[in-house]
Amino acid sequence: MLPKDPNGCPYLQLAPMEGVGDACFRKAIGTVGGFDEAVRDFLRIPTNAHIKSIVKGYNSEELAPIPLAAQIMGSDTDLMAEAAQELVQKGAKRIDVNCGCPSNTVTGKGAGSSLLKEPKFLYEVAKSVVDAVSIPVTVKMRSGFDDISLFKENLLAVQESGAKYVTLHPRTKVEGYTPPARWDLIHQAKTLLKIPVVGNGDILNVQNALDMMKQTGCDALMIGRGSVINPFIFHQIRAHFAKTTYKPTQDDLMKYLSVYLANMAQEMPVQLQVNKLKQLLGFLFKRSAKLLESRILILRSSHPNPNSLLEYAKTFLIN
Ligand SMILES: Cc1cc2nc3c(=O)[nH]c(=O)nc-3n(C[C@H](O)[C@H](O)[C@H](O)COP(=O)(O)O)c2cc1C
Repeated sequence: MLPKDPNGCPYLQLAPMEGVGDACFRKAIGTVGGFDEAVRDFLRIPTNAHIKSIVKGYNSEELAPIPLAAQIMGSDTDLMAEAAQELVQKGAKRIDVNCGCPSNTVTGKGAGSSLLKEPKFLYEVAKSVVDAVSIPVTVKMRSGFDDISLFKENLLAVQESGAKYVTLHPRTKVEGYTPPARWDLIHQAKTLLKIPVVGNGDILNVQNALDMMKQTGCDALMIGRGSVINPFIFHQIRAHFAKTTYKPTQDDLMKYLSVYLANMAQEMPVQLQVNKLKQLLGFLFKRSAKLLESRILILRSSHPNPNSLLEYAKTFLIN
């Protein structure tokens, strides 16, 4: 589990990102590659869930041969167990339990980051999933709900549940996505736990990845927004360990974007494609100070279809 590559590069995971990192994005970045595994954005398991229809949203072969783990978010132990079993039937090789989603529509029902308010309940939910399946179950969590007073209890609850490892995004629910992620908490988790810890939060470039490894001693890295800003980040990290460099060409970038467009064309109406492409470009244009200056032009532009928006974006991207 979480093996390093032959050059010593840590196991690299693509983070779940509901809304941004949907199947269109995953398949596009999947053609770029460089990561060992991806985690699908959460499947919500509400208390009135019809499990079979919910798990239809998961395709274990989506990125084959790269494995795609399934993530479930809920608080009903029986339904979480049932969902995990169905996902195994659908080919899942790992089930991740979401203990981090800050959305109030979720947390109002006691799932996602709300589980961090009660370590005992967190333990029960995770254990119900662990006991239901024979594949590895893992937990992805934030550092707390309002504050970090239950941080250690929550980590120990995860370990006690039989989860194979924990992925830590070291911000509380209340902190949302600010201030900077507290990597010192990843180090604390490493010191406390016997199970592996996957470090996550604010890795935007190769140096950040190296710094996180050094400062925390974490066992693997998960990257979310950094991969939307720079879809080649995984290759660049890997290249560092291979003592080479990975310099993507403009063609590589355009190929990635054209796969994204082709995937969207099969999935959604044209206006939604324009909006989603704009969202993706909004991330891509954070890649450099120069692109950042033009970002607002992209976001404010108006286009009848995604191809015309991409043509407009190219005028900035190709210079
Ligand atoms: C738009 C968006 C959607 C997210 N959706 C999920 C999700 O479905 N499940 C989850 O566990 N975390 C989710 N996250 C959290 C990320 O997986 C990750 O923990 C967080 O963004 C910090 O990592 P990063 O700095 O590399 O982005 C989401 C984050 C963003 C920005």
